[in-house]
Amino acid sequence: MALAIYPGSFDPVTSGHVDVIERARHVFDRVIVSVAPNIRKEALFTTEERVEMLREVCREFSGVEVDSFSGLLVNYAVANGANVIVRGLRAVSDFELELQMAQMNRCLAPDVHTVFLMTTTEHSFLSSSIVREVARLGGDVRGMVPPVVEKYLARKFQTE
Ligand code: COA
Repeated sequence: MALAIYPGSFDPVTSGHVDVIERARHVFDRVIVSVAPNIRKEALFTTEERVEMLREVCREFSGVEVDSFSGLLVNYAVANGANVIVRGLRAVSDFELELQMAQMNRCLAPDVHTVFLMTTTEHSFLSSSIVREVARLGGDVRGMVPPVVEKYLARKFQTE
């Protein structure tokens, strides 16, 4: 059974991420979408909130589970019996960092392979931070994020 991990900070999950999840579940029997704390970024949502949003979004997707982890991604993958890491590529600008991470992960765990799926062009301009910024300033993010995320963003910025 082909099992893949799709890791990310998902702060929050966007329609671009959902597109990658959709594609991944057609390629692999099981996909674990897993929220990772990114120590280089300051988060808006807690890990629990990010997991809740993803669970709601993935509820209808068979073969997709949602989880979170801390520590090294490759250790998490091996502990779950997964030898594939899925990452989305939006544009050439993503490539350099993704290549570096894939090579580091291969160095740490040669049996874990990174597979890249291209995000649809319709969503290739999206990132979690640009969505957060637009929502924070009262802009309309409909269609850029799943409806449940719109609600979380509205709640978060109402209370700020
Ligand atoms: N649609 C929309 N946005 C997308 C996207 C897509 N398909 N693919 C990537 N992005 C955006 C994200 O929204 C995010 O935007 P932001 O910077 O504005 O927040 C950005 O691209 C990258 O985010 P993400 O894919 O979540 O990766 P990340 O860089 O935040 O996290 C981890 C990468 C979690 C996989 C990495 O930090 C990790 O493996 N951590 C565990 C520790 C570890 O093993 N470290 C060594 C790694 S070599």
